[in-house]
Amino acid sequence: MADTNLQVLGICGSLRKASFNMAALRACGELLPRGMSLRITSIAELPMFNQDVFDAGLPDPVKRFRSEVAQADGLLIASPEYNFSVSGVLKNAIDWGSRPPNQVFQEKPVAIFSATGGPLGGARVQYDLRRILGQLVAHVQPKPEVFIGAAQSKFDAQGKLTDETTRKFLTELLAGFKVWIERMHHHH
Ligand SMILES: Cc1cc2nc3c(=O)[nH]c(=O)nc-3n(C[C@H](O)[C@H](O)[C@H](O)COP(=O)(O)O)c2cc1C
Repeated sequence: MADTNLQVLGICGSLRKASFNMAALRACGELLPRGMSLRITSIAELPMFNQDVFDAGLPDPVKRFRSEVAQADGLLIASPEYNFSVSGVLKNAIDWGSRPPNQVFQEKPVAIFSATGGPLGGARVQYDLRRILGQLVAHVQPKPEVFIGAAQSKFDAQGKLTDETTRKFLTELLAGFKVWIERMHHHH
């Protein structure tokens, strides 16, 4: 499939300017296999979810986010772990995308990874994220799992991912994601 160009949408669960998750997501742009491209969106403008607001007509940032997710061939979610679970901003974005009609995560191939300051690299958040996305019938890539622990030691002051082992793990995650997206499309 020489002309394949799978469009992956990157979503970061941290709004921090110096976010390690965002820095790792940017690094993924350099580690993609051929035939795949990555664009990172922003969830910072999404208001807090309110069904009354949803019913009154989607705010522009919500419209944009939902259509970006709906159009993507796959989602790459980088998430910090907040209090052993998903950050509020990421959960809020998922909630906005999840409401019918046309909930946008249905059948969507998703790859996830996490970066944290702690040693476990987000061991707990990934299973909560899988539970949430599974319930929305997204197809979350089962493996490889990538946990970036002690993130402060793996990026330089400019946010470049300098740890070669982490670059290798992310490269494997992305190579596997291409195969996963193609396999999921094949089933439809
Ligand atoms: C509200 C809050 C809760 C946190 N809870 C956890 C946690 O449960 N586990 C963990 O490993 N790190 C936790 N941390 C530390 C984050 O791993 C660290 O701030 C990380 O750098 C966040 O990701 P970011 O660099 O992409 O913003 C927490 C940080 C915040 C702000």
